[in-house]
Parts: sequence; structure tokens; C-alpha cells
Amino acid sequence: MSTNSNGAESPAARIELRVRATAEQAWALSETLDLLGALSVALEPLEDSAPQLEPAPGTTPLWPELELSALFAASDQAGTAMRQLRGEGLDPVLAECPERDWVAVGRAGLEPFKVGDRLWIVPEWCDAPATGVPTVRIAPGLAFGTGSHPTTALCLEWLAGHDLAGKRVIDYGAGSGILGLAAARLGAAEVTAVDNEPQALVAVRANAELNALKVTAVAPGELAAGKADVIVANILARPLVALAPVLLGHLSPRGHLVLSGITRGQADVVAAAYAPDARVTDARHRGDWVCMELRRD
Ligand SMILES: C[S@@+](CC[C@H](N)C(=O)[O-])C[C@H]1O[C@@H](n2cnc3c(N)ncnc32)[C@H](O)[C@@H]1O
Repeated sequence: MSTNSNGAESPAARIELRVRATAEQAWALSETLDLLGALSVALEPLEDSAPQLEPAPGTTPLWPELELSALFAASDQAGTAMRQLRGEGLDPVLAECPERDWVAVGRAGLEPFKVGDRLWIVPEWCDAPATGVPTVRIAPGLAFGTGSHPTTALCLEWLAGHDLAGKRVIDYGAGSGILGLAAARLGAAEVTAVDNEPQALVAVRANAELNALKVTAVAPGELAAGKADVIVANILARPLVALAPVLLGHLSPRGHLVLSGITRGQADVVAAAYAPDARVTDARHRGDWVCMELRRD
């Protein structure tokens, strides 16, 4: 075991989840594993698969059947993914991977990026651009949320596009706390981050300290009664459907609910779970991902 910059223990070994799937299932499964906290997801041929020779330009053909390999930092995340995939009728297996320099692997490809004109997101180990634009520094640790995933980026863009001054904000499914921290940096008066993974709450508190921002991190059962002007929840379609009464219960009458972690094919089901109390007033897309804004009538 070693200690990461969040002060959390980071096991040097990783848990690998392998699952066999069809080509039709592969991309959606890959996205689901990504959202469930996988550090990486690889699509691999079966031993007896025919090679994919000279694919046409712009195409990514897959083998009719293949195996997905997803790496997780924490066994509880891998366990959650196991249960979810089993619930979908698949047969995943877990294995422990040998040690590598996982800090370097996790940092690869992460760079500072700008959200609209109002905010920079900067990995903790990078220098902040000297621009005078407000900055949020992120040490993801073992929690999801560096900003590189399209759903996080869509939610950040929503936050940066709205006046949050003086607003009460709930970041539900906070992961690293990136969305709540962005809201606090953009002027929100009160930010509460909620997550059902204890490791995420550790990451939120560490990132709040890193940015000298006040964000209260709580487990779902500890969320105090009260209404928020903005609730942002980047989770997955199924939990968002189940959480509809909870999120609506915390939304102020003129509040905005921002939901993501939803694919285009799931958008109607999620919207239906919030109707008739709230209806979709805006939707942004990136690839197959959707971020929906809902408001009460
Ligand atoms: C996809 S990550 C999003 C992290 C971050 N908000 C972002 O946008 O990058 C989803 C987070 O929701 C949390 N989560 C999943 N189901 C939840 C539930 N029912 N209640 C609270 N948190 C939940 C997971 O632990 C995970 O940290």
C-alpha cells in the first residue's frame, strides 16, 4: 500500500473485471464501466476471433464476440460493477493485477482544460495557467471525476453557463467533487456534495481543502432536509431513475436539476421518472452522452 495525494491509501495492485459480450453490447458496456469508476476499459478479441484486417477509414469494426477488460482501483467499485453486469444477465469475473506505476498510468493524458470562458480545471500535479480565470484544482485519488469524461464536461459547461452567485447547490454523486467545487468557485453560496462511496467523500474533502473552498461532503443518509437552487447529478440512468423522489424532494420550486451519465437511448426513461413534477427544458449532447436540464412547471 502507498498513500496518494488525498491522504488515502492507494493499493499498488488493481482489480481487473473481465466480461464476455457481443459487439452490439460492447460500447454501452464500456461506457457503463467507465462511469462506474473503471480507470481504463479495453476491448479484446477472444482467443479464436478472426483478425480485423484493413478496416474501412473512419470505422472501428469489432469482433462479433469479444471480452472487455476493465481496471478498477478499489475492490468495492469492482464489486459494484460485478453486481450491475450480473443484473444485466452477463457473467463477469474478477482478478487481481500485478503492480505497476499506477500513479503515472492514472495521470497519463490528463491536462488543464478551460470550461467556457469562466473556469479552468487543473490536475493537481500541473501548473495553473496564469490567466486570472478562476481555477479548480483536482486530485482525483480513487474517485471518479477528473473532468475528462464527456458527462462531467457537459455538467461543467452547464455550471459555467449559469449565474450561480449566492445559489445553494447539491452535487449528487460527487466522485472527486469536481462539479460541486466548480459551483463553489463560480460563486455558489452553499455547496453540498453527496456520494455513497466513502472514498469519494474523502476525495471531496481533500479537493475542497486543496482549493480552499467550502464544500460539505455527506453520505446520502446524512443529507439535511432543505431545498437547493441547483442539483447536479452525473451518475447513471438506473440510479437517476431510482433517485427521482430524493432529488425532486430537494429541488426548490424555481430550481434547476441537471442530470447526466445518461445515453441518448436512456434519456426518455430518465425524463419519465421525473415527470410530471419536472420536465426537460434543455439537453446537451456529446457523442452518445446526454446532459438534461429539468425544471418544475
Ligand atoms: C460518474 S461518477 C460522477 C463523478 C463526478 N460528479 C463527475 O461528474 O465527474 C458517479 C458518482 O456517483 C456515485 N453514486 C452512484 N450511485 C449513487 C447513489 N445512489 N447515491 C449517491 N452517490 C451515488 C458514485 O459513487 C460515483 O462517485
